[in-house]
Amino acid sequence: MQFNTDEFNQLIRMRRSIFPADYNGENVDDAIVQQMLENANWAPSHRFTEPWRFLIYTREGLKKLGEIQSTVYKNVTEKDGTFSEKKYLNLRDKPLSASHVIVVAMRRNAERSVPEIEEISAVACAVQNLYLTATAYGVACYWGTGGITYFEESKTAFGLEKEDKLMGFFYIGVPKKWPKPTKRGDITDKIEWIIN
Ligand SMILES: Cc1cc2nc3c(=O)[nH]c(=O)nc-3n(C[C@H](O)[C@H](O)[C@H](O)COP(=O)(O)O)c2cc1C
Repeated sequence: MQFNTDEFNQLIRMRRSIFPADYNGENVDDAIVQQMLENANWAPSHRFTEPWRFLIYTREGLKKLGEIQSTVYKNVTEKDGTFSEKKYLNLRDKPLSASHVIVVAMRRNAERSVPEIEEISAVACAVQNLYLTATAYGVACYWGTGGITYFEESKTAFGLEKEDKLMGFFYIGVPKKWPKPTKRGDITDKIEWIIN
């Protein structure tokens, strides 16, 4: 292998979740987003189920996404009495502050040959590839799982089946500036080497 491992280690540590308030309003080139998606597609999956599905909203599509998620939110929360006008407006308008928003989903394999947890894990690997590719291009992004992510009703809105999973929203934009790396607890607290 002839990769620059120092650069690769640095890339991993420089990856950050960068939120729409820290985007400068410019558009990210579609070609970069396409490259992020191509790399996501190289994630591992057990038995090659490749369960990741992505819907890419951009330009006028962002308005559409805002309408979809605020409408689903309204329909669900008006029924259970938890509706908040502030949340509704936030869901309607938040996509507009991004350049692209990718709806992240897991499509359950028809044969059910692999446990669900493995399909979800594979999608998470694909999302990490999105994150790392974005970092390499200096593009800001973050994986959000708030809003309507876990509403059963959201699945129909994005063309998903009951056994599929909506796994969140991947926001993309041009960063105002790149934030400093965050902290992590010591790896030694999370590992154990067994050598004999
Ligand atoms: C599965 C998953 C879901 C997440 N959902 C949210 C979210 O709903 N809202 C949010 O602010 N950040 C969310 N994040 C981003 C984390 O807050 C972020 O990764 C964490 O703070 C570490 O920061 P870093 O990514 O910059 O290292 C999520 C991350 C993951 C992996």
